[in-house]
Amino acid sequence: MPLKDVLVDELRDMYSAENQLVKALPKLAKGAKGAKLKELFTAHLEETKGQVERLKQVFEHLGEKPTGQHCNGMEGIVEEGKDALEKDEEGASFDCGLIGAALRTEHYEIAGYQATISMAKTLGMQDVIDLLTENLNEEMAAAAKITAAAGPIFTQSSEEPEKGQKPKSGKEKYSAQKSREDEKKAAPGLKKRASS
Ligand SMILES: [Fe+2]
Ligand SMILES: [Fe+2]
Repeated sequence: MPLKDVLVDELRDMYSAENQLVKALPKLAKGAKGAKLKELFTAHLEETKGQVERLKQVFEHLGEKPTGQHCNGMEGIVEEGKDALEKDEEGASFDCGLIGAALRTEHYEIAGYQATISMAKTLGMQDVIDLLTENLNEEMAAAAKITAAAGPIFTQSSEEPEKGQKPKSGKEKYSAQKSREDEKKAAPGLKKRASS
């Protein structure tokens, strides 16, 4: 497959990812307990809408349509965000989970834009590079702002009193079971490493 086709595929993935975030970010903004975090998610939602528009312009330059590929990676990350929103925690400790989920989305997007910008550079598509770089810069700034806001929230959470163990939900039990399977599947590979 020629590089241009790979680029179009990757960009369709990004377009799907950004659209999924337009739907998910309001939930994070609504769920966040802290005002600063709420404000960051709301501001990034507006940026994300602009990113969708920029991607549409990219597809116009490429003479292709933006739909055609669903981003499974972002679906999974959004699902993890939902888990964080369902956590039975209060205040800063609750927000810590949202920060982890939000940073994952930003870094996933950063990787996507870095890869597509490199491809567009190889193909010498300056207009595409410029538009994607604007999106990349917004994602990097968003990640930096979330990281900066996280500091005081983590400190506050570390000072909260410890709570007793709560019973696990069905979803949490399933997740714990799957994590043991992950460990089991990795065991032969890890054993090889130890003996080599
Ligand atoms: Fe984005
Ligand atoms: Fe983002």
